Amino acid sequence: MPPITLVTGAARGLGASIARRLGTRGHHVIVNYRSSAAEAAGIVRDIEDAGGSASSAGADVTDPSAVDGLVSGILAAHGRIDAVVVNANTAPPPFAALADLSWTDFAAKVTGELAGAFHITKRVLAPMRAQGAGRIVYMGSTAADYVGGGRLAHGTAKSALATFARHVAAETARDGVSVLVVAPGAVRTPATAAIMDGERGAVLARESVLGRVLEPEDVAAAVALAADPALHAATGTTLRVDGGWSVLVGGPSS
Ligand SMILES: NC(=O)c1ccc[n+]([C@@H]2O[C@H](COP(=O)([O-])OP(=O)(O)OC[C@H]3O[C@@H](n4cnc5c(N)ncnc54)[C@H](OP(=O)(O)O)[C@@H]3O)[C@@H](O)[C@H]2O)c1
Repeated sequence: MPPITLVTGAARGLGASIARRLGTRGHHVIVNYRSSAAEAAGIVRDIEDAGGSASSAGADVTDPSAVDGLVSGILAAHGRIDAVVVNANTAPPPFAALADLSWTDFAAKVTGELAGAFHITKRVLAPMRAQGAGRIVYMGSTAADYVGGGRLAHGTAKSALATFARHVAAETARDGVSVLVVAPGAVRTPATAAIMDGERGAVLARESVLGRVLEPEDVAAAVALAADPALHAATGTTLRVDGGWSVLVGGPSS
């Protein structure tokens, strides 16, 4: 039986690449979406066309009753849930310095980020504990470690997510459930293509040991490995996928 793996927010962006990659590694992938049903169905077709197995499931992962329905549906269909990639971009960053940031925007970023992790984690823990195995991968960001560039809200939220993951690791490891944060740097996605193809992209490429900007496939490859329960002992920690920024310059200056 293939591992049953849920990827939240997988209709586009990094989630779509992660879903495709997991499909090629033999997972049955549940492609979660909030509103992009047609795009999610397209990702399912991509996975099936490549010889894999997938299905799509709509749910707002910040809504606990929707999350309950999502996970209950997976358990009804498959009898288990082996891995979850907590990826949905539930709170896009309001890039701004503190002086220009409203409490409303700051709070929306922090609570939206954590709601997308809290409800799904709580809901999958009981079945994973009953199985004696489970793997949860959280999509963090190197923004948790760098200051400047208006990253205050985003960095605070991703830092809180990493701390949340450490607590989950501590509470669940002896039940067979382990967690990892994958923290990408800036990635070229449809949403960031305009920036990545300009001066900012040139700086990112120059400050990377790779000599190029990150592509979604770079992140997807790391997440697909991170979702393997064989990495059980690598729990409560963060895998950076940043193209070597910290190696060369100790982090971005802007
Ligand atoms: N892109 C980067 O450079 C980068 C760098 C570091 C970390 N990250 C992290 O990687 C993750 C994915 O980023 P991305 O840029 O690929 O995201 P994205 O393209 O902006 O969004 C991905 C998906 O998230 C879904 N989503 C949003 N709110 C949701 C909700 N409440 N419930 C279910 N799905 C929801 C959307 O679904 P619908 O379309 O169905 O509404 C969307 O398709 C995020 O956690 C982000 O912080 C991204």
